Amino acid sequence: MSASPFMLDGKLALVTGGASGIGLGIVEVLAEAGAQVVIADRAIADAEAVAAGLAARGRLVEAVPLDLAEEGSIIAAAAEVTRRHGAPWLLVNNAGLQNRELLLDASAGHWEATHAVNARGPFLLMREIGRAMVAGGAGGRIVNVASAALIGSIIHGLAAYTASKAALGGLTLTAALELAEHGITVNTVLPGGVATPGAMGATGPEARGPARRRPPLGLCEPRDIAAAVLFFASPAARFVTNQVLAVDAGWSIS
Ligand SMILES: NC(=O)c1ccc[n+]([C@@H]2O[C@H](COP(=O)([O-])OP(=O)(O)OC[C@H]3O[C@@H](n4cnc5c(N)ncnc54)[C@H](O)[C@@H]3O)[C@@H](O)[C@H]2O)c1
Repeated sequence: MSASPFMLDGKLALVTGGASGIGLGIVEVLAEAGAQVVIADRAIADAEAVAAGLAARGRLVEAVPLDLAEEGSIIAAAAEVTRRHGAPWLLVNNAGLQNRELLLDASAGHWEATHAVNARGPFLLMREIGRAMVAGGAGGRIVNVASAALIGSIIHGLAAYTASKAALGGLTLTAALELAEHGITVNTVLPGGVATPGAMGATGPEARGPARRRPPLGLCEPRDIAAAVLFFASPAARFVTNQVLAVDAGWSIS
């Protein structure tokens, strides 16, 4: 283990959705821990602006276009990152859609759009980056960003969303088993409410439900979620796999 158990000196990290909100916090914290970070985002202009801003502060951050709803885009983004740098050490499946639709008004289109980005996209990216990690032979880390909705921080309209995040949890379980023999760990972070552009701009019915209560410790910031990601990515967690860490400011006991 290195001198500091929480440093990522020179490790390559690929963060989806790193142009905004929680993903941006993850990119900052990983870069400050010494990682070289590639932001993979559909909003490529925003991702490039974030990368340029952090690069100006001496961090190693760049961007690659990715649309998680398109398998071809996922394959191309993984190939581009690997071509530039070799296999990532860390994949953070952070990008997600949070729009709401009541169960009784639900449409198949909303379910499919939500699952395409929140579950199928991470599944395909884990396949692509997992193959690169295995070929690289150096092990690696995968961290999936699900939601504290899975432990009761729920509001009306999140049927498709919560089901997609449960699918991501199931993926963690299976991937942790299949990748352990390659020295790759797979873990899940459950954010509670964070006032991000995505959360504030989510469309749908009024957000009624237990997650409207103020969490006992207050509202989390993106960097609070990022700290849990850093833990799973760090040397300190080398024997930690298939674990779930909620950063929900105590919502689950409120
Ligand atoms: N904010 C919260 O309260 C909260 C709570 C629990 C879980 N989460 C989860 O945290 C993650 C980040 O959420 P956030 O609030 O920061 O969201 P956000 O909308 O602010 O940021 C999401 C990022 O993902 C990107 N993205 C969206 N669709 C994409 C696609 N098809 N391909 C590639 N990139 C795409 C966006 O461009 C954006 O940069 C999500 O998975 C979300 O479900 C958020």
